[in-house]
Amino acid sequence: MINLENIVISGKEVCPIIEGGKGINSTNGVSSGHFAKEGCVGTISLVSADYYDENGNVVIERSSRLKRLERHEDLISGAIKGGIAQAQIAHEIAGNNGRIHVNELWELADSETVIREVLKGAKGLIHGVTCGAGLPYKLGEIASENGVYYYPIVSSSRALMVLWKRAYSKYSEFLGGVVYEDPWLAGGHNGLSNAENPNEPQDPYDRIKDLRTTMDKLGLQNIPIVIAGGVWCLSEWEKYIGNPEIGMVAFQFGTRPMITQESPVSDEWKKVMMNAKQGDVALQLFSPTGFYSSAIKNKFLLRLMERKEGEISFSNEKTEEFDTELALSPVKAVYIKKDDLVKANNQIQKGYDVIQATPDDTVVFLSQEEWTKMKDDRVKCMGCLSQCQFSSWSGLNGTTGKLPDPRTYCIHKTLVDIGHGGSVEDNLLCAGHQVYRFSKDPLYANGYVPTTKELIEAIKAGR
Ligand SMILES: Cc1cc2nc3c(=O)[nH]c(=O)nc-3n(C[C@H](O)[C@H](O)[C@H](O)COP(=O)(O)O)c2cc1C
Ligand code: SF4
Repeated sequence: MINLENIVISGKEVCPIIEGGKGINSTNGVSSGHFAKEGCVGTISLVSADYYDENGNVVIERSSRLKRLERHEDLISGAIKGGIAQAQIAHEIAGNNGRIHVNELWELADSETVIREVLKGAKGLIHGVTCGAGLPYKLGEIASENGVYYYPIVSSSRALMVLWKRAYSKYSEFLGGVVYEDPWLAGGHNGLSNAENPNEPQDPYDRIKDLRTTMDKLGLQNIPIVIAGGVWCLSEWEKYIGNPEIGMVAFQFGTRPMITQESPVSDEWKKVMMNAKQGDVALQLFSPTGFYSSAIKNKFLLRLMERKEGEISFSNEKTEEFDTELALSPVKAVYIKKDDLVKANNQIQKGYDVIQATPDDTVVFLSQEEWTKMKDDRVKCMGCLSQCQFSSWSGLNGTTGKLPDPRTYCIHKTLVDIGHGGSVEDNLLCAGHQVYRFSKDPLYANGYVPTTKELIEAIKAGR
């Protein structure tokens, strides 16, 4: 047994085991309700959360309107309805046990509106809100005006300091905790800064200790640090528990609770995770948000990697260096380096004969089918992000002003699909870097899928 004492989270004494919020539909009212029912903390994802029609069926197609701005409005109103619907489900399952949190990605378009309206519409059902992917400086204000606790997700003490100085110092009453998410190990989007090398992971101990030192200086001695990223068995984290250098802690599990009976993740996706091997997860930069993210190297991700490997630089003008013509279409040509011609011809011979420019003066090679799909995805864009590299949509003024980037993809489309039973080969499968541990962990022997209750018992026992 691990000596994990209850602590106060979002105004109530609970077990400090937290379900990490996962969008789209990888944590919902059911999964979070069961975490709370066990006296822990469940987290509903507010990213396009499911809502239901009058027959109780999930509404997948959220807009048929023609203009992107109209589809965007429908996306936001659907996300609000979904968040409220999932909070009601979670509340019913949890009874009065544990705590229910919601999670939002700050870089989503209109994330402020979604959080605000969900908290209002589900008043009393939600106790805390976690938010990362960007600097959620308005989070303190939104949570405080609704009387719920807030939990910024950061990957360094520097990020917390920026948030504190800019906004949080005015809203310290409702700061419930600070989530330290390991940028090298966690699943989903990763908060690596430019100063950090994706190939050189750092020891979390020193970084968490540094965060505690900063929090102490800010007078936040009694605020817990929620440790996330790479947490599997608590027996491996004993030196963080009851340690004055680290202070009060809770642990957030992202990847491990994806395989439970109550997890909304499809059976096919669970099977892929059960069979994953060490090294199957790549930390890469293909997300249209511009952030690093971690996902399983399936067909979808391998093709993005292959496309990137085939990338070559070009110039619009013929120069000494860029002296070889490459036809992009019957009417447009650019100039590439002579040495890159073999690479270009190889791609074309493989059937990747649609050549598309990127915003970085490079080209990549696509198949006709990929290009058709890409155009279709852009036409159907709902403006889910505040800034999208794939479509050039910007929530601020309609466009980023940059060329749409063919090295990325529509994250909304793929996450809606995989979140509702779509292909495990043709969609993005986000996962933490320890996903390979499912295949070695006795809790999942012979493909066994535990209940949330069994998972939490195992976690409490240090297993
Ligand atoms: C499939 C998947 C989706 C995720 N989606 C989100 C998200 O929408 N918002 C967020 O803040 N974190 C998200 N995360 C991160 C988790 O909440 C959690 O912090 C992280 O997975 C912890 O690391 P672990 O995977 O090693 O347990 C996601 C993680 C996974 C695996
Ligand atoms: S194209 Fe970009 S902004 Fe539009 S829905 Fe897809 S990911 Fe979101």
